[in-house]
Amino acid sequence: MGLPNSRQGARKVMFLAGFLLSCMLQLVPAQFQPQLSLTSEPIETFVGKDVKLSLRNAPRQFAQCQWFRQSRSGRVENIFTQFGQTQGQPEKGPGHTGRETLRDGCSLYIARLTQSDAANYTVVIQPGPDQQTGQGQQFVGRNLSDSYYLQISSLMSINLNPQRPVQGQDLTLTPQNAPKQLSFCKWVIHPRGGKEKVLEYDPEDTDQQSLSQGRTTLRQDCTLHIRQLDVSDTGNYTVKIESLLNQQQQPGQQPEIGDFQVHKGQVYLDVFQQSGHDPQKGHGPQVARASASLTYNAAVVAGTLLGSLAWADALMPVFSGLFCSLTSLRRKVIP
Ligand SMILES: *[C@@H]1O[C@H](CO)[C@@H](O)[C@H](O)[C@H]1NC(C)=O
Ligand SMILES: *[C@@H]1O[C@H](CO)[C@@H](O)[C@H](O)[C@H]1NC(C)=O
Ligand SMILES: *[C@@H]1O[C@H](CO)[C@@H](O)[C@H](O)[C@H]1NC(C)=O
Repeated sequence: MGLPNSRQGARKVMFLAGFLLSCMLQLVPAQFQPQLSLTSEPIETFVGKDVKLSLRNAPRQFAQCQWFRQSRSGRVENIFTQFGQTQGQPEKGPGHTGRETLRDGCSLYIARLTQSDAANYTVVIQPGPDQQTGQGQQFVGRNLSDSYYLQISSLMSINLNPQRPVQGQDLTLTPQNAPKQLSFCKWVIHPRGGKEKVLEYDPEDTDQQSLSQGRTTLRQDCTLHIRQLDVSDTGNYTVKIESLLNQQQQPGQQPEIGDFQVHKGQVYLDVFQQSGHDPQKGHGPQVARASASLTYNAAVVAGTLLGSLAWADALMPVFSGLFCSLTSLRRKVIP
């Protein structure tokens, strides 16, 4: 079909286009109505920090918005009920711990997270009256809902032995206060200017593990051992440990997402290049010792900062990048 060359033809095409456009505009809200979903900000949450469970694609007006928490025991408790956007304070339910508030409409903000906040959170929204008109009768009275499993990690510090690592030495990195019985351990090494290395250990899955790479060995207690340190080993070392909360898991029973406790830690390793002189003899030691103590300071500062929760903010992007793929694999997606 060629281009219309008469006025009449042009008008027909315009009419047709207008008709199609109006059809599409009518179809869009009905067929592609985006689904209500919950997201966590930040994605990685730590004990002692705050989190916001934000609503995506929420109706602009709602008649009622409710939040529920389902704990590991399966018990469901109401946290908040908000009637309309402008109807004053929300009603607190038995699941309100004193640390929850509602923000930006009906997003749930939880302050000073504890391990017991790890649970399945569900929001139920009854759309407001103006949302139910003009969208076809099938939407009247339909509640919108989504759930999100909030996993909360503990922050670990990492101990270096020796504390002042020098080129040529052997080094052991030990996560502090790590659980004795671990069900998964993963180290991710980002050397300064080198290729990322991943070492992981899963006691259940003995074929699928990389316990050794070159001079680096992962032990079953999740300590990392590096033989004959090289300056190229300088970089970020990040560890993630998972342990089962309930050690009396029935054999053969698949653990659920909520059965895991997650521990994370990071340290920046700075390997000092040994001076040409042997520190044991000659005039070398002065120089070597001074520089080594600089390295020591850097390493200790990194370890100490990591122990303080204030640093968790700086870690978020790193952890998010490193572990999101894993977390999202394990997180059940609720349609
Ligand atoms: C969370 O709760 C919702 C609603 O009760 C349920 O459909 C979903 O399976 C639960 N998710 C998890 C991971 O327990
Ligand atoms: C929507 O949710 C409200 C409050 O939870 C409930 O009273 C109502 O019955 C629900 N409506 C439908 C259609 O499920
Ligand atoms: C190591 O981590 C810190 C803090 O997250 C970051 O600023 C730095 O760029 C990282 N360095 C490397 C080599 O990845």
